[in-house]
Amino acid sequence: MDYLIYGIIAYLLGSIPTAVWVGKIKFNLDIREHGSKNAGATNTFRVLGKKAGRFVLIVDVLKGVLAVMIPFFINNYDWSNDHLIHLKIISGVFVVLGHIFPLYARFKGGKGVATSLGVILGVHPPAAIICIVLFLIVFILFNYVSLGAIVASVAFPLLVEFAFSNENLSLKIFSIVLSSAVVILHHQNIKRLIKGNENKMNLFKK
Ligand code: G3P
Repeated sequence: MDYLIYGIIAYLLGSIPTAVWVGKIKFNLDIREHGSKNAGATNTFRVLGKKAGRFVLIVDVLKGVLAVMIPFFINNYDWSNDHLIHLKIISGVFVVLGHIFPLYARFKGGKGVATSLGVILGVHPPAAIICIVLFLIVFILFNYVSLGAIVASVAFPLLVEFAFSNENLSLKIFSIVLSSAVVILHHQNIKRLIKGNENKMNLFKK
């Protein structure tokens, strides 16, 4: 029963469509009709500028962190509780689902990258930090956010399995599901990367 409750809370939290609301409230436009048409931080940077992009990025990451920390807070901060990892995983899956299919924005959200980052920061911080470093290396070298996100997503289950040799089957399955979802949602970006016409973004450009 508590799986269902945590799942619903996480889905409602993930459904907060930060990019859509920032676009509508501050700029009077629907971000899903501009740029890559994705309701995420990258497209917000692209269409609405750095300040709005940073805000969306932070809020979307925090949604993920908060969703997986809620079971931890409610279960008296007990790391040794075996049940907790399952509650965190359920919350992680549902907060990302909420972000991709937001209840408050006609079920048309983002690709789940920032929220997944928040989730993995809460579920497996060491692997998350390595994923961030990999993302930054790819992004700085090639200037493609999407490629960085794909590489970091593919790396996550590999890190869980090989670098940290995690024995928890639920965590292994979760890492594969999350990684596959992010890669599948980037199918248009992958096509553009292959054709050589993916949007570039320069981190250091004013
Ligand atoms: O966070 C999504 C990013 O990896 C790609 O976004 O807008 O270029 O499709 P976008």
